[in-house]
Amino acid sequence: MIQNDLFLRAHRGEAIERYPVWLMRQAGRILPEYRAVRSKLSGFKELVETPEFATEVTIQPVDLLNVDAAIIFSDILVVPEAMGLPYQMIEQKGPWFENTIRSQQEFDRLDQQIDVQDRLWYVFEALKQTKTALNGRVPLIGFAGAPWTILCYMVEGKGSKTFSESRKFLYTQPALAHLLLQRITDVTIAYLKGQVAAGADALQLFDSWAGILGDAQYNEFGIKYISQICEAFPETPLTVFSKGAIGSLPALAQLPCTTLGLDWNMDVNVARNLVQENMTLQGNLDPCVLYGSPQIIEAETKKMLKSFKSQRHIVNLGHGVYPDIDPEMVKVFIHTVQNYAI
Ligand code: CP3
Repeated sequence: MIQNDLFLRAHRGEAIERYPVWLMRQAGRILPEYRAVRSKLSGFKELVETPEFATEVTIQPVDLLNVDAAIIFSDILVVPEAMGLPYQMIEQKGPWFENTIRSQQEFDRLDQQIDVQDRLWYVFEALKQTKTALNGRVPLIGFAGAPWTILCYMVEGKGSKTFSESRKFLYTQPALAHLLLQRITDVTIAYLKGQVAAGADALQLFDSWAGILGDAQYNEFGIKYISQICEAFPETPLTVFSKGAIGSLPALAQLPCTTLGLDWNMDVNVARNLVQENMTLQGNLDPCVLYGSPQIIEAETKKMLKSFKSQRHIVNLGHGVYPDIDPEMVKVFIHTVQNYAI
């Protein structure tokens, strides 16, 4: 039994007393308590791969910020690693892959028929330990990268402003792109099934680089695979967050999932008109609002809340919270939402 199940009720479109709120990237560098745990370790990967530590930092925002949901501490890049493409997280720089997938030969070198339970055991173990530690206080979110965003990292091998290698790949080797996307999709479904079995109450797909494709291309190389993932989870609350894919909102509104994540450039009421009462919307305050004064944060948050014309909302930022945002300002945001009568 979950004591505070507002988040799950909002996903399902059931009645709620107030809007639930959590933040993408809530477990992480905004919290001094996170940095303290992190500084004792060899690096980011040790934190991700040690269930005791991952559990500790997953719970921190529940204790310290009073959010209405916990998200398991991990990274979307554990999936390419499980497929045979290991990554390093380089301090101050971000992810880096020694090998990339840009040819059939490189694709053939990926591990085939992997045992997801065996390769990603540490995520499942962290979920189990977190469930125990949460003791039913709030729901626990599991997640994965959407296939297109994972392909971006596998082809590019690192972060990029344009992901032009990845976009080039779609034009030069579309058949191989589809093979790779299908492989990622199959592994992701097995991975998310494992997360649900280990205790995840809801799931989120992060398609961080959705917005760099045109709408037709995003349909073909993005939504097609997201749709397969949604179909595999008819019973689980699932959020699809396709950052930047404004022109694809009508197509996203047709997905068989409970919830659409909106970034801060997406208009909540345009999305509401598309989904009607059939889907929950999550988002979408500009994370930069949290650099403002408490008065500004309260005013902007209330402006967003007042614009909602339905109960089917989960409040969040329009993307992950930036690492240098003051946790006290995050608390102002959360407090404003939790004290707003609907
Ligand atoms: O609190 C949470 O949301 C849970 C944990 C979480 C992390 N990454 C931890 C993390 C989640 C959900 C992610 C998702 C993720 N990872 C995405 C999708 C969301 C988005 O922001 O668009 C992406 C694209 C990644 C890949 C990734 N991981 C990059 C590009 C980087 C480096 C840049 C950065 O943000 O630091 C990471 C590292 C990372 N993942 C950190 C954390 C807390 C920072 C590492 C550190 O502590 O040094």
